[in-house]
Amino acid sequence: MHIKHLVQLALLPALVAAHPGHEEKLASRELLAYKTHLRRGLDNCARAFEENGLTARAIARRAEISDKYRKHRLSARDTDDVLSTSHLSNENYTLSTSESEIFSASSTCVLNPEGEVGPFWVSGELIRTDTLETQPGVPVVLEYQFVDVSTCQPIEDLYADTWSCNSTGVYSGVQGNGNGDSSDDSILQETFLRGVGKTDEDGVVTFKTLFPGHYSGRTTHHHIIAHLNATLLSNNTLTGGSVPHIGQLFWDQDLIYTVEDTAPYNTNTVDITTNEADRVFSDETSGTTSDPVLNYVYLGDSLEDGLLGWVTVAVDLSAEYSPTYSYLWTSSGSEAVSGNGDDSVNGGGGMPEGSGAPTGVPTGGAGF
Ligand SMILES: *[C@@H]1O[C@H](CO)[C@@H](O)[C@H](O)[C@H]1NC(C)=O
Ligand SMILES: *[C@@H]1O[C@H](CO)[C@@H](O)[C@H](O)[C@H]1NC(C)=O
Ligand SMILES: *[C@@H]1O[C@H](CO)[C@@H](O)[C@H](O)[C@H]1NC(C)=O
Ligand SMILES: *[C@@H]1O[C@H](CO)[C@@H](O)[C@H](O)[C@H]1NC(C)=O
Repeated sequence: MHIKHLVQLALLPALVAAHPGHEEKLASRELLAYKTHLRRGLDNCARAFEENGLTARAIARRAEISDKYRKHRLSARDTDDVLSTSHLSNENYTLSTSESEIFSASSTCVLNPEGEVGPFWVSGELIRTDTLETQPGVPVVLEYQFVDVSTCQPIEDLYADTWSCNSTGVYSGVQGNGNGDSSDDSILQETFLRGVGKTDEDGVVTFKTLFPGHYSGRTTHHHIIAHLNATLLSNNTLTGGSVPHIGQLFWDQDLIYTVEDTAPYNTNTVDITTNEADRVFSDETSGTTSDPVLNYVYLGDSLEDGLLGWVTVAVDLSAEYSPTYSYLWTSSGSEAVSGNGDDSVNGGGGMPEGSGAPTGVPTGGAGF
């Protein structure tokens, strides 16, 4: 088996409470090796898009898909390129624009898997794509598209698990110092801005969410965990399957400043950490093809009308991660759990081998 588990520092709830803004550090040398490996896969993918074009046209559906994906940009970007690229699209998309139109845009870039779950994942979340609830701020419609890096085809029936903080930097379902009022355990009954959604035949899942605020030490970001081959239970949660991707997605810095100037974002007195200063942003963008910044358009004349954001995520399906979690969503709310390297959604991934550094990164078996 060419599967290793990328385990993360298993944060106990007490540790989360002590260092709410602290997220785990990956072994960057291993991560870079993995990303280089994946880069070769993306290069192959780019060639495949070109080479398959003619033959694929013989079959209508394949031709359509191939045409769509060939337009994706797979060129290498480094941190400076990503930082200096505006992800504001000049297309006139609305909520009724079709997925295929949005994802055929040349500005769509491919993100490679990277692997950092952070301490705020609540495992076992409900399947739902409208996660906004009553949170005030800039509403966002987020379209995530997942493609298989070895075949360049969309991944259908993948469950994307996503979470982010509210406009004043607080996560639902997690109690701790620095995450809102740490003495208020009613937060454990909250589910805002968390949800799990299934991809369609285009590999696309669309969430209604909020432009996140910020908290100490981190730039504005969304989290994603991808579940494959998971089974939907009658109580609308997942069991089983595997996790081939863990990642974080970002927004352009100028847009962040614009949003942060509006209420209620501007009531947050915590210092802003910029993309440039953010460790995870840097890890995800250095020396790779990765551009983990969401493309976007305004959905109206002003921010209050909301934003449409989208990104294509290339996944190495042979990778298998075992994300850690400190909280589990149960029938009585979010419950703190300790020392988990395995995850109930991921059935039997194994406990972390030690409580500090990652033990490895996945190695692909797809010959790239
Ligand atoms: C978007 O709409 C504006 C105003 O109607 C138009 O000038 C512009 O060309 C459109 N952009 C695209 C990419 O169609
Ligand atoms: C963010 O969530 C916390 C916890 O529920 C809440 O106290 C706070 O008011 C929320 N922020 C806004 C702007 O509503
Ligand atoms: C798991 O999902 C992948 C991607 O959809 C699929 O190719 C594979 O056949 C599935 N495996 C099983 C055991 O169902
Ligand atoms: C859903 O059902 C599973 C399996 O019985 C259980 O482990 C889990 O706690 C349930 N989740 C909720 C939110 O009720």
